[in-house]
Amino acid sequence: MLRNAVSLLIALSLSLSAAFLGAEELPIPELLESSSLPGGGRLFELRAQQGSRSFLQGNNTPTLGYNSAYLGPTIRVRRGEDVAIRVRNNLREATTVHWHGVHLPAEADGGPHQRIEAGDEWEARFSVDQPAATLWYHPHLMGTTARQVYQGLAGFLLIEDDESAALRLPKEYGRNDIPVVLQERRFNRDGSFRYRPRMPDVMHGYSGNTLLTNGAVEPHLTVRDQRVRLRLLNGSNSTVLRISFDGGHSFQQIASDGGFLEKPLRRQWIVLSPGERAEIVVAMPGPDKSLLLLAESNLGSRYRALELRGAPTLEAVPEVPGNLTTISRLDPEDADRRRQFVMSTMGPGGRLTINGKRMDLTRIDERVPVGSTEVWMVVNGTPGGRGMMGGMMNVPHSFHVHGLQFQILSLNGEPPPPALSGWKDTVLLWPNDRAELIMRFEDYLGIYMYHCHLLEHEDDGMMGQFEVVSSAGR
Ligand code: C2O
Ligand code: CU
Ligand code: CU
Repeated sequence: MLRNAVSLLIALSLSLSAAFLGAEELPIPELLESSSLPGGGRLFELRAQQGSRSFLQGNNTPTLGYNSAYLGPTIRVRRGEDVAIRVRNNLREATTVHWHGVHLPAEADGGPHQRIEAGDEWEARFSVDQPAATLWYHPHLMGTTARQVYQGLAGFLLIEDDESAALRLPKEYGRNDIPVVLQERRFNRDGSFRYRPRMPDVMHGYSGNTLLTNGAVEPHLTVRDQRVRLRLLNGSNSTVLRISFDGGHSFQQIASDGGFLEKPLRRQWIVLSPGERAEIVVAMPGPDKSLLLLAESNLGSRYRALELRGAPTLEAVPEVPGNLTTISRLDPEDADRRRQFVMSTMGPGGRLTINGKRMDLTRIDERVPVGSTEVWMVVNGTPGGRGMMGGMMNVPHSFHVHGLQFQILSLNGEPPPPALSGWKDTVLLWPNDRAELIMRFEDYLGIYMYHCHLLEHEDDGMMGQFEVVSSAGR
C-alpha cells in the first residue's frame, strides 16, 4: 500500500518533472586544466565530440560538446600570458572554434576560414592582452554554426587581470562566481533536439519551449555566501532574453561584454541578445531563503532559469566596491573613417543581408588600415516595432564584430545608457534602431567577421568580412 503510494508519487513527480522546480542541481562547467608550453605559456586542449544527455524525463538527447557530452569546460586565462588552445575535431563533420570577444591574430580567431575537418586538429595561439572579462567560445563554420551550437558546442572563456584580482568581488569559481549560460531549446517527443528551422523561423528567430541553464532545466544552486556573482551569457540561437529576479529583487550589474563597468549599476532587469554577456552580483535575501532568476523571451515565453537557495548560514561577503575600473573613452574626433552597415531582410530574394549583400567567403567587404580608429553606424533596416513583445515583423538583430571590443557612441541619436557604456562586442538592435560604434584596429592584420549573432541570420548570410591591412601607402 505504502509502496504503491510511493511509486505513484514517483510516477507523478516524473511526469511533472518539467514543472518540478529545482529538482536538478546547476551543473557548473569544470575549469580546464592546462599544461606548460615548451617556449613558455600554457596549453589547453579541447575535443569536440558527440554524446548524449538526459535533459527531460529520462529521455536521451543526442548532443555535441567539448570534452563532455554537452557544452564545454571553462577556460580561464590571465592578461599578459601566452596561450595555445589545441582543438581536436572528433565530430563526423567539419567545425571551427571561435573565441568570441578575444582580441587576437586573425589566423587564431576560429572564424569560417579556420576550418577543422573531421578527425583533424587545429591550434590557436595568442597573447592575452585585454581587460578581465567574461567571453565565450563556439563553432563558426559557414552554414552549420547554428545547428552545432544548438546541439551543445559552447563554453566560457574568462580573462582575469590585476584589477579583477584586486577587486573585492565574489571570485571563488563554482562557489560564488558562477558562469550561467541560458539557451532556449525545443525538443522532439523522443527527447532529441528539434532543430528544423524553416524560412519563417530563420527570419523571425528559431524559438523554443524549454530553457536550459548550463544544460539543466530549472536547476537550483545552493548559495553559501551573502552575495553571489553570476556571469550571464545568452547562448540562445536567436532568442532575446529579458532577465530578472522574481518579485523585482534588484541586483548590481558589474560588467558588460568586454569587462567591468566603471561603477556597479543597480538594476532590476537586463536584456541580453544572443551572444551578449553581463556580470551581476546579487545579495541573497537571507539564510534559508530562495531567489528565483527569471528569463522572458522576446516571443513571450517565460522561464524559471535558476533558483538560488540560501544555505542555513550565509558567509559574509563585502559590498561591491563603488569603483570598478576606468575606461578611457574613444573620441570620435580621432576617427579616421565612418562606415555604415544596414542589416536588412529586404535583400535579393528576401534574404538576410548587410548593405544588401549576403556573406561571400571570397569577397572582402571592408578594408581597414591598421592603427586606425573608425565609427561604424549600424542600422536595423527591417521594419517593425521596438520592444520585447512585438508582432511577426518584429525582427531584432544583434551586431557583433570579431577581434576587438568597441564602445557605443550613440543609440538612436542619444548617448547610450550606463549599462551599454562599457566595452562591448555585440549590440542589440530592435527594428529601426541605429547604433554608432567606435573601435580601434590596434595591431593584428588579416580577415575578421562582422555579423548578426542571431545564428540563423548569420548562417543565412547576414555576415561580412573586414580585412585589417597594412597602413603603408595609406
Ligand atoms: Cu560569437 Cu562571430 O561570433
Ligand atoms: Cu565573435
Ligand atoms: Cu539578425
